[in-house]
Formats: sequence, C-alpha cells, structure tokens
Amino acid sequence: MTARKQAALAILISGRGSNMQAFIDACASGELDARIAVVISNNPGAAGLRRAEEAGIASCCIDHREFDSREAFDQAMVEQLTAHRVELVILAGFMRILTPVFIQPFAGRLLNIHPSLLPKYPGLHTHQRALDAGDTEAGVTVHFVTPELDGGPPIIQARVPILPSDDPDTLAARVLKREHIIYPLSVQWFCEGRLVTQEGIVYKDGEPLTQPILLEDTIAM
Ligand code: GRF
Repeated sequence: MTARKQAALAILISGRGSNMQAFIDACASGELDARIAVVISNNPGAAGLRRAEEAGIASCCIDHREFDSREAFDQAMVEQLTAHRVELVILAGFMRILTPVFIQPFAGRLLNIHPSLLPKYPGLHTHQRALDAGDTEAGVTVHFVTPELDGGPPIIQARVPILPSDDPDTLAARVLKREHIIYPLSVQWFCEGRLVTQEGIVYKDGEPLTQPILLEDTIAM
C-alpha cells in the first residue's frame, strides 16, 4: 500500500513562534500528518526562526523593510512559497497585513489564528479590549483568510473564562493553550480534505458550517 503524500505546509511568523512549535510537535507526534516545508518570518529577530532552525526546518527571513510596497513584499513571499511547492499557508503570529497579491494565489488554502472570539475584536490588543469591556469569556478563532482583516470565514473557536484576577498576560496565556490545540487540529482536517471554503462558506465533511465549530464539540471528530 502506498502512503498518501504528506501536504507541504508553510508557516509564517513574526515573533516567538509558539504556535509554530505546536505544529512542529504535532508533526513529530503524528497527530498532524503533514510536513513543514518552510518557515518564513518578516522579522529577522523573530525567536521562532531560531526554533525552526533547531528543529531542522527550512526557514528564511523576508524583511518587509527592504521592499517599497506591500505588494512587492507579498510578491517575494509568493515566489518563495511557490518555490517550496507549498499547499497550505499558516499564519501564526504573522504581523503584516497581506494584499490580494498574496491572498489571491492562496485563496482557500490560507489560514490564520486570531486571539478573540471573532467577529469580536478583530485587530490588535484583543485581551485588553475583552477585559475593558467586562467580558466574562474570551477565546480564539481559526479562520480562512480573505482580504478583510480578521474577517474571513471562521472554522473553529475555543472559549476560556475570564477571571476577576486576570490581566492581559494571564488571559493571553490561558487562550494560548487553546490555540496550540485548535490550530493543528484544523490543519489536520484540511490535510485530510475535510475542510474547504467556497464563496465565503466553510464546509466541514461536506456540510456547510453555519457557525464555527467549538473545541468542546470536537471529541471524536
Ligand atoms: C498568538 O496569540 C496568535 O493568536 C496571534 O499572535 C500570537 C502569536 O504567538 N495571531 P506565537 O508567535 O505563535 O507564540
């Protein structure tokens, strides 16, 4: 019997890379049946780049400051990803707004993780905003990327309580643990061909999602 070819993933980072590490771990354990073809950072100082090197994964920096426009930077990224024959692009703490030059060629195979229960709190400082609003719960969303910032169709969310003693850091740490679960899980679904998006709708196992899947509901999925 021939083994199914593993999907080639690219992970784009700007910073510490803990989500990237969760993918490295999930591939190593077999929980995720895919291979990380390349890690790219726009930031030469990203700690995640060192982590990728230590794990023996091809990595490079494409420094956005060396380009005259967002489009020129995006085009350089597309060329690098195409050279690595990447099938799925994973944004994991990648702090650059992407233009259609990037989004178009990877439409339907470009994922992001955002630390809020979208559509609440797109953009930055999500945990501070949830605390300021007096919310009693926070969370994280994995979604397909469209040109609308943090506005693409959601796939899965995980919720966490907000405790009276929380500050943005304690809340972020609680959310991050869930990030490391739901992101590899959704990528595994994608690699199994169980997750597709068409015209703004996400289909899981052929069924349209009317709302994001909740982590709590994924037992035995
Ligand atoms: C995570 O909180 C992620 O949700 C957000 O950026 C952060 C990246 O953290 N998009 P890390 O670099 O994966 O540790």
